[in-house]
This record gives sequence, C-alpha cells and structure tokens, in this order.
Amino acid sequence: MPLTSIVMATHHMKSTHFDNFDIDDKANEVACRIVASDTELEKRMKFETRDIMKVRERLAEYDCIFLVALVGMYKEDKVKILRHIRKYMKEGSFLLVRSAKGSRAFLYPVIQEHDLLGFELLTIFHPNQWRTQEYISLGAGFK
Ligand SMILES: C[S@@+](CC[C@H](N)C(=O)[O-])C[C@H]1O[C@@H](n2cnc3c(N)ncnc32)[C@H](O)[C@@H]1O
Repeated sequence: MPLTSIVMATHHMKSTHFDNFDIDDKANEVACRIVASDTELEKRMKFETRDIMKVRERLAEYDCIFLVALVGMYKEDKVKILRHIRKYMKEGSFLLVRSAKGSRAFLYPVIQEHDLLGFELLTIFHPNQWRTQEYISLGAGFK
C-alpha cells in the first residue's frame, strides 16, 4: 500500500503529483486499484515498476523524494540505496527517509544520522499520531 504517498497527497501536498516506484509489479497493481477509488488522488499518482537502483537521471527531476521503510530490507541495502539516491538527486532537493523506532526496529531497518553520508540532516520527526507505526522520518538535503 502506498501509504506515504497517500498520506502526503491527501493531507499535506494537496496539488503535488507523485511518481511511485516499486520493484514489484503486483504491489503496483494493488496500489493502482487502491488509489483508483479516489478520482482526484488517482490523477496525481503514477506507479512504475522499477528497481530504484536502476532509476538514475530521472531522480534529478524531483524536488522531494520519499524513501519508505521497506525499500531495502536490510541496513546494508538501505545504505546502498541512500548512496544511489544521493548520487542522482538534484542539488537543493529533499529526501525524506522513513525509519523505525522501538519494537518496530525488529521489522524495519533503522536509519541513523551517520548513514546519511553526503546529506545535511534537517530534522528528525516522530509522528505520534501514527501509533500503529512507530516510524521516524529523517529529512535530509544536500550540503
Ligand atoms: C511496505 S511497501 C512500501 C509502502 C509503504 N508502507 C509506504 O509508506 O508507502 C515496501 C515496498 O518496497 C518495494 N521495494 C523493495 N525494494 C525495492 C527496490 N529496490 N526498488 C523499488 N521498490 C522496492 C517492495 O516491493 C514493497 O512493495
């Protein structure tokens, strides 16, 4: 479920267009069906089946990139993905990394400040309202 995009598009970035990359075609199919239930949202959401490690110059088109929790199941994969994004994203753009806290760390890789090599850490946010998901979000930009 493209939860991050849905929450951001519905509550915060109400006119922004979102390109969602997922390596799994089936996940994109389900995501498309979920979003299709809201006509306005559907117009602003695109889904593409791609391994994010193979998306290169395209990453420079975005002002903001969200890296959600399970893109990179293990810490080493996640750090490689962070380096890849850092290499291709445009200067002055922002990266929001979903990480985990508390017992959720058993399920999701935990990203710490020292993993954000080449980024400037702008903020760490603990969204208390999402009680079911003890995520933290790290906002980072170029130095
Ligand atoms: C739990 S889902 C993401 C939805 C998330 N809950 C959110 O907030 O948007 C994690 C997705 O990451 C995808 N994924 C894992 N590795 C990836 C990669 N290298 N490139 C693109 N997508 C990947 C998986 O196929 C899976 O559908």
